[in-house]
Amino acid sequence: MNLKNKKIETQIIINSTHNKDGNTSQLIKKLYPNSKSIKLIDYKIELYNYDEKYSDDDEFLLIINEIIKYDKIIFATPVYWYSMSSLMKIFFDRITDLIGTQEELGRKLMGKKIEVITTSNGNNLGDNFFLPFKETADYLHLEYIDGKHY
Ligand SMILES: Cc1cc2nc3c(=O)[nH]c(=O)nc-3n(C[C@H](O)[C@H](O)[C@H](O)COP(=O)(O)O)c2cc1C
Repeated sequence: MNLKNKKIETQIIINSTHNKDGNTSQLIKKLYPNSKSIKLIDYKIELYNYDEKYSDDDEFLLIINEIIKYDKIIFATPVYWYSMSSLMKIFFDRITDLIGTQEELGRKLMGKKIEVITTSNGNNLGDNFFLPFKETADYLHLEYIDGKHY
């Protein structure tokens, strides 16, 4: 096999824990010790608003401009009340900007692969948990690869 032309896939992890050194961060360290990861809690991400106008120090687009450099995005969320963390939900709501005022930037996300990992105490949630991720991926023309609970 000719390895010379084989492109190495790059990946970035979006960590939406509210507990910087908690279970989700530990899991990421174990699974992906060499991958770039971003903790949403370190950034200022304002709530979505219908005008799509935000403060100058809002950092949502900073994150998107980083993400578009990678082939695969791994969303890592703790399970908080049977669902993604509220930080992750705020981030997903803001994706609305990428089909509105920031459409040009949004187009740069098309075709990217996404995966989801979760940490929870119960580990009793099925595949339904991943539905918002799958549907959002479909809507935005991303390629949903897999979701795994830990
Ligand atoms: C607000 C909150 C809600 C939670 N809800 C659930 C839940 O619905 N199901 C579950 O199995 N664990 C639940 N847990 C436990 C966490 O999912 C689990 O401890 C997770 O690994 C925490 O990750 P973290 O340390 O990154 O925050 C909850 C924890 C918190 C703080």
